[in-house]
Amino acid sequence: MQDRIAQVRAEALAAVRAARSPEELEQVRIRYVGKKGELTQLLRGMGQVPPEERPVVGRLVNEARDAVEAELAARQRELAAAALETRLSAETIDVTLPGWAPVLGRRHPLTQVLDEIKRVFTGLGFEVVEGPEIETDWYNFEALNIPQDHPARDLQDTFFITEDILLRTQTSPVQIRVMEAQKPPVRIIAPGKVFRVDADVTHSPMFHQVEGLYVDEGVTFGELKGTLSIMARELFGQRPVRFRPSYFPFTEPSAEMDIQCIICNGAGCRVCKNEGWLEILGSGMVHPQVLRNVGYDPEHVSGFAFGMGVERIAMLKYGIDDIRLFFENDIRFLRQF
Ligand code: FA5
Ligand code: MG
Repeated sequence: MQDRIAQVRAEALAAVRAARSPEELEQVRIRYVGKKGELTQLLRGMGQVPPEERPVVGRLVNEARDAVEAELAARQRELAAAALETRLSAETIDVTLPGWAPVLGRRHPLTQVLDEIKRVFTGLGFEVVEGPEIETDWYNFEALNIPQDHPARDLQDTFFITEDILLRTQTSPVQIRVMEAQKPPVRIIAPGKVFRVDADVTHSPMFHQVEGLYVDEGVTFGELKGTLSIMARELFGQRPVRFRPSYFPFTEPSAEMDIQCIICNGAGCRVCKNEGWLEILGSGMVHPQVLRNVGYDPEHVSGFAFGMGVERIAMLKYGIDDIRLFFENDIRFLRQF
């Protein structure tokens, strides 16, 4: 009997040490110290042991049981520690791997050009103001010396809402609104959206203009040229510009400013329609009738005004050959700025 106990004890201890998972260990526990386990059975079989041997046998079985249970507990801790170790090494973060750069948004190229134009003019003492995109015939045309039957209305194909209400075709109505509201000196720029029935590679039905207006005593055409030349140099560096005589009902004399085409450097291409030059703005000395329309005295004050196309300037600045790219919102295009 004593040999049998020693043998089972040795087997049980070996089995515990050999267990390689909590499940295997549980099987070993059931096999040796469970209710029907081998060591438990040995205790139950005490009846066959001669009475004088019973205390010794009982002690041996209990010792064997304690030893096996201690070994089970020890092996369980080992397996738990190993499992933790495995999990930790599987979850290790490799800090040397390249990270994910967050995708950053960018300002739209038109916003960038607008901001630059604002910077140049605020630096020259101009104030930034805004006016409504839905206008009356009076502000968009009449007050600007463009009466009902004037042929100049045909130059700007208008989106009418009613006979008297329209989408502004130019930012020039803001000139009238500002002069109505304040006395000279006036020195403002007015950026915003304008609308015309017009669409090709350099014309869009909605586009942006920046209006400029400077009215004070003794303002001259020389100041107009000087101011716009400074702007061109700030925006384009040393690229050649030219002033060309033109006509607007609300300025006299009038001039348009062209900049040498940046796409073809003056050689001629589809963007400049083989001219070598691209018109970026209209300008002139504020017409005396316009000054009278807002209650100013043309004998006392004079001024210049201009209106430039923001998309045109952005196209020239960045070498973009189709105005529609600005409004398609193709991320591959926008990402380049
Ligand atoms: C005007 O709109 C006048 N109000 C400008 C002005 C203001 C003259 C103050 C005198 C005094 P014009 O129609 O030429 O002028 O347009 C001005 C600029 O807007 C053009 O030089 C061009 O750069 C831009 N432009 C005109 N039509 C379009 C269009 N459909 N798409 C994109 N840009 C345009
Ligand atoms: Mg024009």
